[in-house]
Amino acid sequence: MSSNSPSQHKRYRGVILTPVGWRKLEQAEKESGQHFTKEQIRDRTGLSIQTISRIRKRKVGVDQDSLECYVKAFGLELTDEDYTHVRQENQRQDWGDAPNVSVFYDRCEEMAQLQQWILAENCRLVALLGMGGIGKTALATKFARDFKTEFEIIVWRSLQNAPTIEELLGNVLQSIMQMLQEDPVVPTSLNGKLSKLMEYFRDKRCLLILDNAETILSAGGGAGNCMAKHEGYSQLFKRIGEVSHQSCLLVTSREKPKDIVALEGEEKKVRSLQLGGLKPEDGRKLFQDRGQFTGTDAEWIRLIEHYGGNPFALKMVAAGIQQLFDGSIAEVLEYIGQGVLVFNDIRDLLDRQFSRLSPVEQEVMLWLAINREPVSVKELKQDVVSVTSKQQLPQALYSLLRRSLIEKAGKQFSLQPVVKEYVTERLVKQVCQEIVSCRERTESYSPIALLQTHALIKASAKDYIQETQKRLIVQPLLEQLLIELGSQQKLVQRLKDLLEQQRH
Ligand SMILES: Nc1ncnc2c1ncn2[C@@H]1O[C@H](COP(=O)(O)OP(=O)(O)OP(=O)(O)O)[C@@H](O)[C@H]1O
Ligand SMILES: [Mg+2]
Repeated sequence: MSSNSPSQHKRYRGVILTPVGWRKLEQAEKESGQHFTKEQIRDRTGLSIQTISRIRKRKVGVDQDSLECYVKAFGLELTDEDYTHVRQENQRQDWGDAPNVSVFYDRCEEMAQLQQWILAENCRLVALLGMGGIGKTALATKFARDFKTEFEIIVWRSLQNAPTIEELLGNVLQSIMQMLQEDPVVPTSLNGKLSKLMEYFRDKRCLLILDNAETILSAGGGAGNCMAKHEGYSQLFKRIGEVSHQSCLLVTSREKPKDIVALEGEEKKVRSLQLGGLKPEDGRKLFQDRGQFTGTDAEWIRLIEHYGGNPFALKMVAAGIQQLFDGSIAEVLEYIGQGVLVFNDIRDLLDRQFSRLSPVEQEVMLWLAINREPVSVKELKQDVVSVTSKQQLPQALYSLLRRSLIEKAGKQFSLQPVVKEYVTERLVKQVCQEIVSCRERTESYSPIALLQTHALIKASAKDYIQETQKRLIVQPLLEQLLIELGSQQKLVQRLKDLLEQQRH
Protein backbone atom coordinates (compact mmCIF):
# COMPACT_ATOMS: atom_id res chain seq x y z
CA MET A 1 0.00 0.00 0.00
CA SER A 2 1.48 3.31 -1.05
CA SER A 3 2.11 5.58 1.92
CA ASN A 4 1.09 8.72 0.04
CA SER A 5 -2.14 7.54 -1.56
CA PRO A 6 -4.95 10.10 -1.23
CA SER A 7 -6.84 7.92 1.27
CA GLN A 8 -3.80 8.03 3.55
CA HIS A 9 -3.33 11.70 3.43
CA LYS A 10 -3.93 13.06 6.89
CA ARG A 11 -5.45 16.48 7.02
CA TYR A 12 -5.46 18.09 10.39
CA ARG A 13 -8.01 20.37 11.98
CA GLY A 14 -5.62 21.90 14.43
CA VAL A 15 -4.59 20.72 17.88
CA ILE A 16 -6.19 20.17 21.28
CA LEU A 17 -4.71 19.81 24.74
CA THR A 18 -4.15 16.27 26.02
CA PRO A 19 -5.24 15.43 29.60
CA VAL A 20 -1.55 15.82 30.58
CA GLY A 21 -1.42 19.31 29.06
CA TRP A 22 -4.71 20.23 30.69
CA ARG A 23 -3.55 19.06 34.12
CA LYS A 24 -0.36 21.12 33.79
CA LEU A 25 -2.43 24.21 33.06
CA GLU A 26 -4.74 23.55 35.98
CA GLN A 27 -1.74 23.13 38.25
CA ALA A 28 -0.15 26.36 36.97
CA GLU A 29 -3.40 28.25 37.55
CA LYS A 30 -3.69 26.79 41.04
CA GLU A 31 -0.13 27.76 41.90
CA SER A 32 -0.76 31.31 40.71
CA GLY A 33 -3.50 31.47 43.36
CA GLN A 34 -5.87 33.13 40.92
CA HIS A 35 -8.68 31.95 38.67
CA PHE A 36 -8.54 33.66 35.29
CA THR A 37 -11.69 34.51 33.39
CA LYS A 38 -11.78 34.17 29.60
CA GLU A 39 -11.73 37.97 29.33
CA GLN A 40 -8.60 38.20 31.47
CA ILE A 41 -6.89 35.58 29.31
CA ARG A 42 -7.98 37.45 26.18
CA ASP A 43 -6.40 40.62 27.55
CA ARG A 44 -3.18 38.78 28.36
CA THR A 45 -2.86 36.83 25.10
CA GLY A 46 -4.80 38.68 22.43
CA LEU A 47 -6.66 35.44 21.59
CA SER A 48 -10.37 35.64 20.79
CA ILE A 49 -12.91 34.49 23.39
CA GLN A 50 -14.03 31.80 20.92
CA THR A 51 -10.49 30.39 20.63
CA ILE A 52 -10.10 30.44 24.41
CA SER A 53 -13.38 28.53 24.79
CA ARG A 54 -12.26 25.94 22.24
CA ILE A 55 -8.95 25.45 24.02
CA ARG A 56 -10.75 24.94 27.32
CA LYS A 57 -13.38 22.58 25.96
CA ARG A 58 -10.77 20.40 24.24
CA LYS A 59 -13.18 19.02 21.65
CA VAL A 60 -12.46 21.22 18.61
CA GLY A 61 -8.93 21.93 17.38
CA VAL A 62 -7.24 25.34 17.31
CA ASP A 63 -4.04 26.30 15.54
CA GLN A 64 -0.84 25.41 17.33
CA ASP A 65 0.37 29.04 17.66
CA SER A 66 -2.80 29.94 19.57
CA LEU A 67 -2.32 27.03 21.93
CA GLU A 68 1.33 27.98 22.52
CA CYS A 69 0.28 31.53 23.22
CA TYR A 70 -2.38 30.32 25.68
CA VAL A 71 -0.04 28.13 27.73
CA LYS A 72 2.64 30.85 27.77
CA ALA A 73 0.17 33.09 29.56
CA PHE A 74 0.49 30.58 32.43
CA GLY A 75 4.30 30.56 32.24
CA LEU A 76 4.41 27.16 30.48
CA GLU A 77 6.05 25.86 27.30
CA LEU A 78 3.99 23.60 25.02
CA THR A 79 5.68 20.17 24.85
CA ASP A 80 4.78 17.17 22.65
CA GLU A 81 2.88 15.42 25.42
CA ASP A 82 0.69 18.49 26.02
CA TYR A 83 -1.22 18.46 22.75
CA THR A 84 -2.50 16.20 20.02
CA HIS A 85 -3.69 16.74 16.45
CA VAL A 86 -7.36 16.61 15.57
CA ARG A 87 -7.79 14.89 12.25
CA GLN A 88 -10.05 15.98 9.45
CA GLU A 89 -13.34 14.11 9.40
CA ASN A 90 -12.47 12.03 6.33
CA GLN A 91 -12.36 8.76 8.18
CA ARG A 92 -14.34 5.63 7.57
CA GLN A 93 -16.66 4.22 10.18
CA ASP A 94 -18.65 1.02 10.60
CA TRP A 95 -20.62 1.17 13.82
CA GLY A 96 -22.15 -2.32 13.60
CA ASP A 97 -24.67 -2.72 16.45
CA ALA A 98 -23.22 0.06 18.56
CA PRO A 99 -25.91 1.51 20.85
CA ASN A 100 -27.12 5.05 20.83
CA VAL A 101 -25.38 7.02 23.57
CA SER A 102 -27.13 10.35 23.25
CA VAL A 103 -28.05 10.11 26.94
CA PHE A 104 -24.81 9.71 28.83
CA TYR A 105 -23.89 11.03 32.25
CA ASP A 106 -20.67 11.43 34.21
CA ARG A 107 -17.61 9.26 33.52
CA CYS A 108 -15.37 12.34 33.15
CA GLU A 109 -12.46 10.64 34.90
CA GLU A 110 -12.78 7.46 32.87
CA MET A 111 -13.05 9.46 29.64
CA ALA A 112 -9.91 11.41 30.57
CA GLN A 113 -8.14 8.12 31.29
CA LEU A 114 -9.11 6.69 27.89
CA GLN A 115 -8.03 9.91 26.19
CA GLN A 116 -4.71 9.73 27.95
CA TRP A 117 -4.05 6.09 27.08
CA ILE A 118 -5.49 5.92 23.58
CA LEU A 119 -4.94 9.42 22.21
CA ALA A 120 -1.93 10.71 24.13
CA GLU A 121 0.03 7.50 24.73
CA ASN A 122 -1.17 5.59 21.67
CA CYS A 123 -1.92 2.43 23.64
CA ARG A 124 -2.50 -0.53 21.38
CA LEU A 125 -4.90 -2.57 23.49
CA VAL A 126 -7.23 -1.25 26.18
CA ALA A 127 -9.75 -3.36 28.11
CA LEU A 128 -12.82 -1.84 29.77
CA LEU A 129 -13.87 -4.18 32.57
CA GLY A 130 -16.73 -4.36 35.02
CA MET A 131 -19.80 -6.26 36.06
CA GLY A 132 -22.83 -6.57 33.80
CA GLY A 133 -24.70 -3.32 33.31
CA ILE A 134 -22.02 -1.07 34.78
CA GLY A 135 -21.72 0.87 31.51
CA LYS A 136 -18.76 -0.59 29.58
CA THR A 137 -20.49 -0.62 26.19
CA ALA A 138 -21.90 2.85 26.73
CA LEU A 139 -18.49 4.28 27.70
CA ALA A 140 -16.59 2.58 24.86
CA THR A 141 -19.14 3.83 22.34
CA LYS A 142 -19.24 7.32 23.79
CA PHE A 143 -15.47 7.54 23.66
CA ALA A 144 -15.36 6.33 20.04
CA ARG A 145 -18.12 8.72 18.98
CA ASP A 146 -16.62 11.74 20.76
CA PHE A 147 -13.14 11.17 19.37
CA LYS A 148 -14.00 9.69 16.00
CA THR A 149 -12.01 12.39 14.24
CA GLU A 150 -8.88 10.99 15.85
CA PHE A 151 -9.09 7.81 13.77
CA GLU A 152 -9.05 7.10 10.07
CA ILE A 153 -10.98 3.88 10.45
CA ILE A 154 -13.43 2.82 13.16
CA VAL A 155 -15.02 -0.63 13.33
CA TRP A 156 -17.37 -1.57 16.17
CA ARG A 157 -18.31 -5.24 16.60
CA SER A 158 -20.20 -7.13 19.26
CA LEU A 159 -18.99 -10.56 20.31
CA GLN A 160 -22.37 -11.25 21.91
CA ASN A 161 -22.96 -14.33 19.74
CA ALA A 162 -19.41 -15.58 20.25
CA PRO A 163 -18.27 -15.57 16.62
CA THR A 164 -15.21 -17.66 15.82
CA ILE A 165 -12.06 -15.61 15.34
CA GLU A 166 -12.12 -16.49 11.65
CA GLU A 167 -15.68 -15.16 11.29
CA LEU A 168 -14.91 -12.02 13.20
CA LEU A 169 -11.69 -11.18 11.39
CA GLY A 170 -13.24 -12.01 8.02
CA ASN A 171 -16.10 -9.64 8.78
CA VAL A 172 -13.86 -6.83 10.08
CA LEU A 173 -11.46 -7.13 7.14
CA GLN A 174 -14.30 -7.07 4.65
CA SER A 175 -15.65 -3.94 6.21
CA ILE A 176 -12.25 -2.21 6.11
CA MET A 177 -11.65 -3.30 2.52
CA GLN A 178 -15.03 -1.91 1.51
CA MET A 179 -14.32 1.39 3.22
CA LEU A 180 -11.00 1.64 1.44
CA GLN A 181 -12.59 0.52 -1.83
CA GLU A 182 -10.13 -2.35 -2.11
CA ASP A 183 -10.94 -5.74 -3.61
CA PRO A 184 -12.60 -7.70 -0.82
CA VAL A 185 -10.14 -10.57 -0.94
CA VAL A 186 -9.93 -11.85 2.61
CA PRO A 187 -7.07 -14.29 3.32
CA THR A 188 -8.30 -17.77 4.14
CA SER A 189 -5.94 -18.80 6.94
CA LEU A 190 -6.15 -17.34 10.43
CA ASN A 191 -2.56 -16.24 10.21
CA GLY A 192 -3.22 -14.54 6.89
CA LYS A 193 -6.22 -12.71 8.36
CA LEU A 194 -4.25 -11.60 11.41
CA SER A 195 -1.40 -10.36 9.25
CA LYS A 196 -3.79 -8.43 7.02
CA LEU A 197 -5.39 -6.76 10.03
CA MET A 198 -1.96 -5.86 11.40
CA GLU A 199 -1.09 -4.35 8.04
CA TYR A 200 -4.08 -1.99 8.33
CA PHE A 201 -3.26 -1.32 11.97
CA ARG A 202 0.27 -0.25 10.98
CA ASP A 203 -0.75 1.72 7.90
CA LYS A 204 -3.69 3.60 9.30
CA ARG A 205 -4.89 4.89 12.62
CA CYS A 206 -7.71 2.40 13.28
CA LEU A 207 -9.95 1.94 16.30
CA LEU A 208 -11.44 -1.54 16.56
CA ILE A 209 -13.97 -2.00 19.35
CA LEU A 210 -14.90 -5.53 20.40
CA ASP A 211 -17.81 -5.54 22.82
CA ASN A 212 -18.73 -8.32 25.28
CA ALA A 213 -15.50 -10.27 25.05
CA GLU A 214 -16.54 -12.45 28.03
CA THR A 215 -18.55 -14.59 25.60
CA ILE A 216 -15.35 -16.08 24.18
CA LEU A 217 -13.93 -16.79 27.65
CA SER A 218 -14.57 -20.11 29.31
CA ALA A 219 -16.99 -20.37 32.21
CA GLY A 220 -15.82 -21.91 35.50
CA GLY A 221 -12.26 -22.94 36.28
CA GLY A 222 -10.86 -19.46 36.91
CA ALA A 223 -11.82 -16.39 34.96
CA GLY A 224 -10.26 -15.13 31.78
CA ASN A 225 -9.13 -18.10 29.71
CA CYS A 226 -10.24 -18.16 26.10
CA MET A 227 -12.41 -21.21 25.36
CA ALA A 228 -10.52 -23.86 23.44
CA LYS A 229 -12.49 -23.11 20.28
CA HIS A 230 -11.74 -19.40 20.65
CA GLU A 231 -8.03 -19.64 21.24
CA GLY A 232 -7.42 -17.63 18.07
CA TYR A 233 -8.54 -14.57 20.07
CA SER A 234 -5.47 -15.03 22.27
CA GLN A 235 -3.36 -14.63 19.17
CA LEU A 236 -5.30 -11.52 18.20
CA PHE A 237 -4.73 -9.92 21.62
CA LYS A 238 -1.05 -10.88 21.61
CA ARG A 239 -0.36 -9.61 18.10
CA ILE A 240 -2.14 -6.32 18.73
CA GLY A 241 -0.54 -5.86 22.16
CA GLU A 242 3.00 -6.78 21.25
CA VAL A 243 3.60 -5.68 17.67
CA SER A 244 4.28 -2.05 16.84
CA HIS A 245 1.46 -0.14 15.03
CA GLN A 246 -0.52 3.09 15.31
CA SER A 247 -4.00 1.69 16.08
CA CYS A 248 -6.00 0.58 19.09
CA LEU A 249 -8.19 -2.36 20.02
CA LEU A 250 -10.71 -1.39 22.69
CA VAL A 251 -12.26 -4.45 24.32
CA THR A 252 -15.15 -4.52 26.79
CA SER A 253 -15.61 -7.54 29.01
CA ARG A 254 -17.23 -8.62 32.28
CA GLU A 255 -14.16 -10.76 32.88
CA LYS A 256 -10.56 -9.84 32.35
CA PRO A 257 -8.99 -11.93 29.59
CA LYS A 258 -5.84 -13.63 30.86
CA ASP A 259 -3.95 -12.62 27.74
CA ILE A 260 -4.46 -9.01 28.70
CA VAL A 261 -3.26 -9.68 32.24
CA ALA A 262 -0.07 -11.08 30.75
CA LEU A 263 0.46 -8.18 28.36
CA GLU A 264 -0.39 -5.12 30.40
CA GLY A 265 1.97 -2.82 32.27
CA GLU A 266 2.96 0.82 32.74
CA GLU A 267 5.81 0.44 30.29
CA LYS A 268 3.71 -1.46 27.82
CA LYS A 269 1.00 -0.21 25.55
CA VAL A 270 -1.67 -2.48 26.99
CA ARG A 271 -3.95 -1.22 29.78
CA SER A 272 -7.16 -2.08 31.52
CA LEU A 273 -9.72 0.10 33.23
CA GLN A 274 -12.05 -1.31 35.84
CA LEU A 275 -15.37 0.53 35.83
CA GLY A 276 -17.15 1.25 39.08
CA GLY A 277 -20.66 2.62 39.42
CA LEU A 278 -21.95 6.11 38.72
CA LYS A 279 -21.69 8.75 41.44
CA PRO A 280 -25.00 9.27 43.34
CA GLU A 281 -25.63 12.66 41.70
CA ASP A 282 -25.23 11.14 38.23
CA GLY A 283 -27.12 7.94 39.07
CA ARG A 284 -30.01 10.21 40.06
CA LYS A 285 -30.06 11.73 36.60
CA LEU A 286 -30.94 8.30 35.17
CA PHE A 287 -34.27 8.55 37.01
CA GLN A 288 -35.13 11.94 35.58
CA ASP A 289 -36.27 10.61 32.21
CA ARG A 290 -38.62 8.16 33.88
CA GLY A 291 -41.03 10.45 35.66
CA GLN A 292 -41.46 11.92 39.11
CA PHE A 293 -39.68 10.53 42.16
CA THR A 294 -39.79 11.72 45.73
CA GLY A 295 -36.95 11.29 48.18
CA THR A 296 -34.54 13.22 50.37
CA ASP A 297 -30.88 13.58 49.37
CA ALA A 298 -29.94 10.95 51.94
CA GLU A 299 -32.55 8.52 50.57
CA TRP A 300 -31.29 9.00 47.03
CA ILE A 301 -27.71 8.32 48.10
CA ARG A 302 -28.77 5.18 49.96
CA LEU A 303 -30.73 3.88 47.01
CA ILE A 304 -27.98 4.50 44.45
CA GLU A 305 -25.25 3.13 46.67
CA HIS A 306 -27.33 0.04 47.35
CA TYR A 307 -27.22 -0.73 43.64
CA GLY A 308 -23.52 0.16 43.48
CA GLY A 309 -24.31 2.99 41.03
CA ASN A 310 -24.89 0.32 38.35
CA PRO A 311 -26.75 2.17 35.57
CA PHE A 312 -28.53 -0.93 34.29
CA ALA A 313 -29.77 -1.81 37.78
CA LEU A 314 -30.76 1.80 38.41
CA LYS A 315 -32.79 1.96 35.20
CA MET A 316 -34.64 -1.23 36.18
CA VAL A 317 -35.19 0.05 39.68
CA ALA A 318 -36.46 3.39 38.36
CA ALA A 319 -39.06 1.55 36.27
CA GLY A 320 -39.97 -0.66 39.25
CA ILE A 321 -40.31 2.27 41.64
CA GLN A 322 -42.58 4.04 39.21
CA GLN A 323 -44.83 1.02 38.78
CA LEU A 324 -44.86 -0.36 42.31
CA PHE A 325 -44.22 2.54 44.64
CA ASP A 326 -45.52 5.59 42.78
CA GLY A 327 -42.03 7.02 42.70
CA SER A 328 -41.51 6.98 46.48
CA ILE A 329 -37.87 6.25 47.30
CA ALA A 330 -38.61 5.92 51.02
CA GLU A 331 -40.99 3.01 50.42
CA VAL A 332 -38.46 1.17 48.32
CA LEU A 333 -35.78 1.65 50.93
CA GLU A 334 -38.05 -0.02 53.46
CA TYR A 335 -38.09 -3.16 51.33
CA ILE A 336 -34.41 -2.92 50.65
CA GLY A 337 -33.83 -2.70 54.41
CA GLN A 338 -35.47 -6.11 54.73
CA GLY A 339 -33.17 -7.49 52.10
CA VAL A 340 -35.97 -8.66 49.88
CA LEU A 341 -35.90 -6.55 46.79
CA VAL A 342 -34.12 -7.89 43.78
CA PHE A 343 -35.89 -6.96 40.58
CA ASN A 344 -36.28 -9.69 38.02
CA ASP A 345 -34.10 -8.16 35.34
CA ILE A 346 -31.25 -7.71 37.77
CA ARG A 347 -31.75 -11.28 38.93
CA ASP A 348 -31.49 -12.50 35.34
CA LEU A 349 -28.28 -10.58 34.84
CA LEU A 350 -26.77 -11.97 38.03
CA ASP A 351 -28.04 -15.47 37.24
CA ARG A 352 -26.06 -15.35 34.02
CA GLN A 353 -22.92 -14.18 35.76
CA PHE A 354 -23.28 -16.64 38.64
CA SER A 355 -23.78 -19.63 36.37
CA ARG A 356 -20.34 -19.03 34.88
CA LEU A 357 -18.58 -19.53 38.21
CA SER A 358 -16.61 -22.60 39.22
CA PRO A 359 -17.97 -24.49 42.27
CA VAL A 360 -15.30 -22.98 44.51
CA GLU A 361 -16.06 -19.48 43.27
CA GLN A 362 -19.75 -20.07 43.98
CA GLU A 363 -18.91 -21.26 47.46
CA VAL A 364 -16.81 -18.15 48.11
CA MET A 365 -19.69 -15.96 46.95
CA LEU A 366 -22.01 -17.72 49.40
CA TRP A 367 -19.57 -17.17 52.22
CA LEU A 368 -19.15 -13.51 51.40
CA ALA A 369 -22.95 -13.16 51.49
CA ILE A 370 -23.21 -15.00 54.79
CA ASN A 371 -20.49 -12.90 56.38
CA ARG A 372 -22.35 -9.75 55.28
CA GLU A 373 -19.35 -7.56 56.18
CA PRO A 374 -15.95 -7.42 54.46
CA VAL A 375 -13.70 -10.33 55.45
CA SER A 376 -10.06 -11.29 55.01
CA VAL A 377 -8.71 -14.34 53.19
CA LYS A 378 -7.88 -15.81 56.58
CA GLU A 379 -11.47 -15.60 57.75
CA LEU A 380 -12.77 -17.01 54.50
CA LYS A 381 -10.36 -19.88 54.82
CA GLN A 382 -11.97 -20.84 58.08
CA ASP A 383 -15.35 -20.69 56.39
CA VAL A 384 -14.92 -22.77 53.28
CA VAL A 385 -15.41 -26.41 53.92
CA SER A 386 -13.32 -28.76 51.85
CA VAL A 387 -9.54 -28.90 51.73
CA THR A 388 -9.65 -28.37 47.98
CA SER A 389 -11.71 -25.23 48.41
CA LYS A 390 -9.25 -23.96 51.01
CA GLN A 391 -6.38 -24.59 48.63
CA GLN A 392 -8.14 -22.94 45.74
CA LEU A 393 -9.36 -19.96 47.76
CA PRO A 394 -6.75 -17.34 46.68
CA GLN A 395 -7.20 -18.36 43.06
CA ALA A 396 -10.99 -18.18 43.36
CA LEU A 397 -10.83 -14.70 44.91
CA TYR A 398 -8.50 -13.52 42.19
CA SER A 399 -10.82 -14.95 39.59
CA LEU A 400 -13.90 -13.32 41.15
CA LEU A 401 -12.13 -9.97 41.18
CA ARG A 402 -11.36 -10.39 37.50
CA ARG A 403 -15.02 -11.17 36.93
CA SER A 404 -15.88 -7.91 38.73
CA LEU A 405 -18.22 -9.78 41.07
CA ILE A 406 -16.50 -9.02 44.34
CA GLU A 407 -14.84 -5.93 45.75
CA LYS A 408 -11.56 -5.55 47.59
CA ALA A 409 -10.73 -2.76 50.00
CA GLY A 410 -7.34 -3.16 51.67
CA LYS A 411 -7.11 -6.82 52.54
CA GLN A 412 -10.83 -7.36 52.86
CA PHE A 413 -13.27 -8.78 50.36
CA SER A 414 -16.98 -8.09 50.08
CA LEU A 415 -20.04 -8.08 47.83
CA GLN A 416 -22.02 -5.11 46.63
CA PRO A 417 -25.37 -4.91 48.50
CA VAL A 418 -27.51 -6.01 45.57
CA VAL A 419 -25.20 -8.92 44.79
CA LYS A 420 -25.28 -9.86 48.47
CA GLU A 421 -29.07 -9.93 48.41
CA TYR A 422 -29.07 -12.03 45.31
CA VAL A 423 -26.59 -14.56 46.70
CA THR A 424 -28.50 -14.75 49.97
CA GLU A 425 -31.65 -15.56 48.04
CA ARG A 426 -29.78 -18.29 46.21
CA LEU A 427 -28.45 -19.68 49.47
CA VAL A 428 -31.90 -19.94 50.98
CA LYS A 429 -33.29 -21.63 47.87
CA GLN A 430 -30.33 -23.97 47.59
CA VAL A 431 -30.47 -25.13 51.19
CA CYS A 432 -34.20 -25.68 50.98
CA GLN A 433 -33.80 -27.70 47.82
CA GLU A 434 -31.06 -29.77 49.36
CA ILE A 435 -33.19 -30.49 52.38
CA VAL A 436 -36.01 -31.62 50.16
CA SER A 437 -33.78 -33.78 48.03
CA CYS A 438 -32.02 -35.32 51.01
CA ARG A 439 -35.45 -36.25 52.37
CA GLU A 440 -36.15 -37.97 49.12
CA ARG A 441 -33.00 -40.04 49.35
CA THR A 442 -33.38 -43.29 51.22
CA GLU A 443 -29.89 -43.47 52.73
CA SER A 444 -29.45 -41.93 56.12
CA TYR A 445 -28.19 -38.43 55.60
CA SER A 446 -28.06 -35.75 58.21
CA PRO A 447 -29.42 -32.37 57.21
CA ILE A 448 -27.64 -31.01 60.25
CA ALA A 449 -24.29 -31.62 58.58
CA LEU A 450 -25.60 -30.12 55.42
CA LEU A 451 -26.77 -27.02 57.20
CA GLN A 452 -23.48 -26.70 58.99
CA THR A 453 -21.70 -26.70 55.70
CA HIS A 454 -24.01 -24.00 54.53
CA ALA A 455 -23.20 -21.84 57.46
CA LEU A 456 -26.73 -21.45 58.63
CA ILE A 457 -25.41 -21.67 62.11
CA LYS A 458 -22.77 -19.09 61.58
CA ALA A 459 -25.27 -16.76 59.97
CA SER A 460 -27.61 -16.99 62.90
CA ALA A 461 -24.78 -16.51 65.37
CA LYS A 462 -23.71 -13.14 64.06
CA ASP A 463 -25.22 -10.58 66.36
CA TYR A 464 -24.87 -7.73 63.98
CA ILE A 465 -26.94 -9.36 61.28
CA GLN A 466 -30.19 -7.51 61.08
CA GLU A 467 -33.16 -9.33 62.49
CA THR A 468 -34.78 -9.27 59.08
CA GLN A 469 -31.74 -10.88 57.52
CA LYS A 470 -31.74 -13.56 60.21
CA ARG A 471 -35.35 -14.19 59.49
CA LEU A 472 -34.61 -14.33 55.81
CA ILE A 473 -31.99 -16.99 56.22
CA VAL A 474 -33.05 -18.90 59.28
CA GLN A 475 -36.82 -18.75 59.42
CA PRO A 476 -37.66 -20.12 55.98
CA LEU A 477 -35.23 -22.92 56.60
CA LEU A 478 -36.73 -23.81 59.93
CA GLU A 479 -40.21 -23.65 58.49
CA GLN A 480 -39.15 -25.80 55.59
CA LEU A 481 -37.51 -28.20 57.99
CA LEU A 482 -40.57 -28.47 60.13
CA ILE A 483 -42.65 -29.29 57.11
CA GLU A 484 -40.16 -31.64 55.55
CA LEU A 485 -39.00 -33.34 58.70
CA GLY A 486 -42.21 -33.02 60.64
CA SER A 487 -42.13 -36.63 61.65
CA GLN A 488 -38.55 -36.51 62.85
CA GLN A 489 -39.07 -34.42 65.95
CA LYS A 490 -35.74 -35.38 67.44
CA LEU A 491 -33.83 -34.05 64.49
CA VAL A 492 -35.68 -30.77 64.47
CA GLN A 493 -35.11 -30.37 68.16
CA ARG A 494 -31.41 -30.95 67.72
CA LEU A 495 -31.21 -28.33 65.05
CA LYS A 496 -32.99 -25.83 67.26
CA ASP A 497 -30.61 -26.63 70.10
CA LEU A 498 -27.66 -26.14 67.88
CA LEU A 499 -28.89 -22.78 66.73
CA GLU A 500 -29.58 -21.81 70.31
CA GLN A 501 -26.08 -22.83 71.42
CA GLN A 502 -24.55 -20.76 68.67
CA ARG A 503 -26.55 -17.76 69.65
CA HIS A 504 -25.04 -17.66 73.14
N1 LIG B 1 -22.88 6.97 31.91
C1 LIG B 1 -24.11 6.59 31.58
N2 LIG B 1 -25.11 7.50 31.46
C2 LIG B 1 -26.36 7.11 31.14
N3 LIG B 1 -26.73 5.83 30.91
C3 LIG B 1 -25.78 4.89 31.00
C4 LIG B 1 -24.43 5.20 31.34
N4 LIG B 1 -23.71 4.07 31.38
C5 LIG B 1 -24.57 3.09 31.05
N5 LIG B 1 -25.80 3.57 30.84
C6 LIG B 1 -26.99 2.78 30.49
O1 LIG B 1 -27.05 1.65 31.37
C7 LIG B 1 -27.36 0.47 30.67
C8 LIG B 1 -26.23 -0.55 30.83
O2 LIG B 1 -25.06 -0.04 30.24
P1 LIG B 1 -24.12 -0.93 29.29
O3 LIG B 1 -24.93 -1.70 28.34
O4 LIG B 1 -23.08 -0.02 28.73
O5 LIG B 1 -23.48 -1.90 30.37
P2 LIG B 1 -22.38 -3.02 30.16
O6 LIG B 1 -21.37 -2.82 31.23
O7 LIG B 1 -21.90 -2.97 28.76
O8 LIG B 1 -23.22 -4.32 30.45
P3 LIG B 1 -23.00 -5.82 29.89
O9 LIG B 1 -21.86 -6.41 30.66
O10 LIG B 1 -24.30 -6.48 30.19
O11 LIG B 1 -22.71 -5.71 28.42
C9 LIG B 1 -27.58 0.88 29.22
O12 LIG B 1 -28.95 1.08 29.04
C10 LIG B 1 -26.85 2.19 29.10
O13 LIG B 1 -27.39 3.02 28.13
MG1 LIG C 1 -22.07 -4.31 27.19
